[in-house]
Amino acid sequence: MTDTIEAQSNKAGKTVSESAAETTVVMLPSDANPLGNVFGGMILKHVDLIAGLVAKRHAGHANIVTASMDSMTFSKPVYIGNALILKARLNYVKRSSMEVEVDIEAEDLNKSQKVYTGTAYVSLVALDEKGKPIEVPKLILQNKEEEERYAEGESRMQIRLDNRKKRKIGV
Ligand SMILES: CC(C)(COP(=O)(O)OP(=O)(O)OC[C@H]1O[C@@H](n2cnc3c(N)ncnc32)[C@H](O)[C@@H]1OP(=O)(O)O)[C@@H](O)C(=O)NCCC(=O)NCCS
Repeated sequence: MTDTIEAQSNKAGKTVSESAAETTVVMLPSDANPLGNVFGGMILKHVDLIAGLVAKRHAGHANIVTASMDSMTFSKPVYIGNALILKARLNYVKRSSMEVEVDIEAEDLNKSQKVYTGTAYVSLVALDEKGKPIEVPKLILQNKEEEERYAEGESRMQIRLDNRKKRKIGV
């Protein structure tokens, strides 16, 4: 039987740029506390959404769930009226799991100034229609930077899985 275009592409793997995404969202009063600081949870919601989009683009026909989010620090505040800019890309792909890095910036639209706010690492897993983890396309690395990111992502994934094991045995 002849493979579909999607099946052929999955076998060959996909590049980082094929799934990378960027989004800009203006922060509204309903996103913030009474002093105008945007809630961390609101930022994490947008982080989760864009990470899911990147993983879905890579995995194609699969259901994507978030398995974990690494701890993250908000190094600068985001205020009502700022544009929240999220840049997301795959660092590492294992079998069914993927690590997406999301870099977060806040733009003061009055001053046209952007500040770096933080980086989130999100691990997502591709599931079939029965909820079973399924293999996703390999990640094709096209330059040294992507190779370095991949190696770092692999180390972080190992730490996550070690921590998961420890939690399971109650250490
Ligand atoms: C994530 C989940 C599917 C893992 O299921 P599981 O039965 O533990 O499956 P497995 O142990 O076979 O692991 C499947 C993959 O997930 C990875 N994984 C599991 N827990 C992980 C974690 N905490 N962080 C990163 N990866 C994880 C495994 O390493 C494995 O990856 P691989 O196939 O690339 O080797 C399951 O825990 C789950 O459904 N969680 C709820 C997800 C959810 O509802 N998220 C919020 C809404 S989207």
